[in-house]
Amino acid sequence: MEFVRVARSGQVPEGYVRRFFAGELEIAVARLRGTAYATSNYCTHLDCLLSSGKLVDEGIGCSCHGSVFDLETGDAVCPPATEPIRTYPVREEDGDIFVGITEEDVASGGPRRRKVVR
Ligand code: FES
Repeated sequence: MEFVRVARSGQVPEGYVRRFFAGELEIAVARLRGTAYATSNYCTHLDCLLSSGKLVDEGIGCSCHGSVFDLETGDAVCPPATEPIRTYPVREEDGDIFVGITEEDVASGGPRRRKVVR
């Protein structure tokens, strides 16, 4: 696993979530109670962008139907989502946010919007 710089600390103020990329890997980075967290950016319910969501006491809330995910474990703590989101380790040093990802994460692009089969 390699820690990759994805943002400056100031780009993720308290209570905000924003989207960043590490290569092809799309990541939502949030700051709650002073700590920065990194997760996959797609809700496991119907793929809405978590970077468009809102932080709540329990974690990150999806703006589409109200699912909430724990930022540390990725567990769905409020329905309708039942499956966890991916979480990635975060280090914050000298004003930069680094996210721990593997080569496989980057190669796969991580969790993405599902293709709709018509
Ligand atoms: S898509 Fe996130 S709660 Fe439905």
